[in-house]
Amino acid sequence: MKKTILTGDRPTGKLHLGHYVGSLKNRVELQDKYDCYFILADYQVLTDKVEKTKEIKKNIHDIVLDYLSVGIDPKKCSIFIESQIPQIAQLDLIFSMLTTMARVKRNPTIKEQIQAMGIKNESLGYVSWPVTQAADILSVRADLVPVGKDQLPHVELTREIANKFNNTFKKTFKLPEAKLGEFPVLPGLDGQKMSKSRNNAIFLSDSSKIVEEKIMQAVTDPKKIRLNDPGRPEICNVYKYYEAFYPEVSKGIKSKCKKGELGCVSCKKDIAKLINEFLGPIREKRNEFSKQKDLVESILEQGRKKTIKKAERTLELVKQAMKINY
Ligand code: TRP
Repeated sequence: MKKTILTGDRPTGKLHLGHYVGSLKNRVELQDKYDCYFILADYQVLTDKVEKTKEIKKNIHDIVLDYLSVGIDPKKCSIFIESQIPQIAQLDLIFSMLTTMARVKRNPTIKEQIQAMGIKNESLGYVSWPVTQAADILSVRADLVPVGKDQLPHVELTREIANKFNNTFKKTFKLPEAKLGEFPVLPGLDGQKMSKSRNNAIFLSDSSKIVEEKIMQAVTDPKKIRLNDPGRPEICNVYKYYEAFYPEVSKGIKSKCKKGELGCVSCKKDIAKLINEFLGPIREKRNEFSKQKDLVESILEQGRKKTIKKAERTLELVKQAMKINY
C-alpha cells in the first residue's frame, strides 16, 4: 500500500516561484510514489481577516490551474477544498480539547506573523489555526507532510495532538512526519522571503515582459555599484535564482561576479531570460487548461469525493476510540 501525503496552500492568490521551488516541484515527484492529497485551505484564509471572502473562489480556480500547469496530475492525486470536508471541522473541534491555550500561544510561526502583519486582537480561530491544520493532516491519516520551514511548528503540533489522542484513547493515528523540500526558502525581489503580501513575488502566470521588468528591479549586493566592483553572490537575491533554477550555470556566475567581471544588469537580463525559458511551457499549459470548460470544477469534485471517503472513516475511528460512536 502506498503511503499517504497531505500538503496544500491557502487560496490567497496565484502561486509564485517560491511555491515552485519550495513545494510544487517536490509534489510533482511525490505524486507517483504516494497517495497524495492537496488541500486548498479556504477556512485558513479567514483566520486573520474573516471578511476576506470575496476572492477565495477565484483564487482556488487560479491555484488549481497553477497546479496543473506545473505538472500536478489529478489522476494521481486528490485536490480538494477544506470547507467541503465537514469531518475536518469536526476533528478540529475534538483536537481543540486536546490542546492547551499555552501550547497554541507558543507557536513561533504564529508569533512571527502577529508581529510582521501587525495583527491586533487576534481571534480565537487565528491562534488555533494550527489545530485546524492538524485536522487537515490527520483527516486523511497522512504519513508525510511536505512543507516549508515555516510550517514545521504546525507539523510538530500535529504529532503532539496525534500522540495525545492515541495515549488518551486508543492508538488511532500514526505520527505524520514533515518533509522539507531541497530549496525551502526563495528570496523575493527585495531579499525578504518571496510572498504575495510582500509584493516581491514572480508569479508562475506572469508574462515574460513582467518577469523581465520585475527582475530588473530586484535588489542585488548594495555594495556592488559599478560593473567592475566585485560582488557578493552569497547575499544576492538574483544569484539565488541562478542557484535555484540553473545550478549548473550558477558556479560560473559566482566566480565572475566575485572577480568584478560581471555587471548586475547583464546578470539580471540573463537570469530573466532563463526564468522565462523555464516558465514558457508552464504558461502554455496553463493557457490550454484554462480553455477547458468545467475542468477545474470536475477535478475539485473528484477530489472532494475521494477525500470525504477517507475522512469519514477517520472520524468513525476517532469516535470509536473515544466511545462517542452512539
Ligand atoms: N498553512 C499552510 C500555508 O499557509 C497551508 C496548509 C493548510 C497546509 N493546511 C495544511 C499545509 C496542511 C500542509 C498541511 O501555506
